Amino acid sequence: MPSVFVPKETRPGETRVAASPETAKRLVQAKLALAVETGAGLAAGFADQAYASAGARIVGPEGWTSELVLKVQPPTADEAARLASGAMLVSFLQPHRELELVGVLRARGVTALAMELVPRISRAQSMDALSSQATVAGYKAVLLGAVHLRKMCPLLMTAAGTVQPARVVVFGAGVAGLMAIATARRLGCKVEATDVRMAAKEQVESLGATFISVPGAADMEGAGGYAKEQSAEFLARQREEVAKRVAEADLVITTAQVPGKTAPRLVDQAMVRSMKPGAVIVDLAVESGGNCALSELGKVVEREGVTIVGLANLPASVPQHASELYAKNVLALVKLFLDKEGKLAPDWTDEVLAGCRLTHAGEIHHAPTAQALAAGKSA
Ligand SMILES: NC(=O)c1ccc[n+]([C@@H]2O[C@H](COP(=O)([O-])OP(=O)(O)OC[C@H]3O[C@@H](n4cnc5c(N)ncnc54)[C@H](O)[C@@H]3O)[C@@H](O)[C@H]2O)c1
Repeated sequence: MPSVFVPKETRPGETRVAASPETAKRLVQAKLALAVETGAGLAAGFADQAYASAGARIVGPEGWTSELVLKVQPPTADEAARLASGAMLVSFLQPHRELELVGVLRARGVTALAMELVPRISRAQSMDALSSQATVAGYKAVLLGAVHLRKMCPLLMTAAGTVQPARVVVFGAGVAGLMAIATARRLGCKVEATDVRMAAKEQVESLGATFISVPGAADMEGAGGYAKEQSAEFLARQREEVAKRVAEADLVITTAQVPGKTAPRLVDQAMVRSMKPGAVIVDLAVESGGNCALSELGKVVEREGVTIVGLANLPASVPQHASELYAKNVLALVKLFLDKEGKLAPDWTDEVLAGCRLTHAGEIHHAPTAQALAAGKSA
């Protein structure tokens, strides 16, 4: 029976956990010897007793020697040193930022599967943790924005007068942006959104928002439905198109990302200055450099009379649901490499497993990471 360990996350601010009591039960049913570290689920609202009732053993750090370790954040240097040689690890691993860790995992012969590298194909939707966590982040971004506004969101007609709906502009209509649009609409906001992928137009409109088209956007969809890196000329045209809307907005939510690149700069200082006093910007791209020139990582700041929210890791601020969804993504991936007897037996001809395999048997299998490590610098 393979041993599996779910540790308590130790990175600052991380409140999520890689297994919920529900997925713990399913892992035990799959004939795995599951151990959960004392207090691993407490911050997400899952007591040790709930895991014990699901059939898990509650253990101390000795669980790190298990054959399979399930995590949310990349292991710290101390944690990586505790992994058994040849063990399997399933986690977000942020390989472009964690090159040293990748080197350690390779040297220890760890088979590391990176959740962010799971291919975004239909068959792997149940394992798509980028999407599940972006959904949580998009939702929370709107709530944070609403809390910082001096206004209410919906149209209200009262005996004391009419309150106009809050005007919201969303940059980027991927998973997080669409959830932000839906959440803002549910709060009664008037929503406009822009994306460089024309495919997003129909999705934006189906949520009852208005799509802001930018001339030339049709050319901006790259491989896998992701955005291509945009030229300075395109970004200038986009700024012109959205500037008027931003000036009138009460709340701006930015979610625009280009895979593997710094986030595009979409809201410059002049645009912030043009906004109404008391307006709010929530920058969901702040961890990849920020879509707004004035946002600060991990902080809520006031600049040019506008509140700019640059808080990191929003999924960790909704830890129960973020963990439940992430745990289901992890469970679906684990089931993909269990054989009929419940042994860990990854089939590397499977495109999902091959796609997310970062290190295995002393090799790095993700080309951009291998190249970055060879070049001795960040990808
Ligand atoms: N399993 C699946 O098939 C699956 C799952 C999830 C997402 N997807 C697709 O993957 C794609 C990316 O989704 P994501 O949420 O991970 O995206 P992402 O986080 O990489 O980027 C967020 C959004 O920002 C947009 N963007 C980039 N530059 C911009 C700019 N200058 N201005 C405005 N918007 C800009 C992107 O087009 C994207 O929609 C989408 O096409 C989505 O439908 C597919």
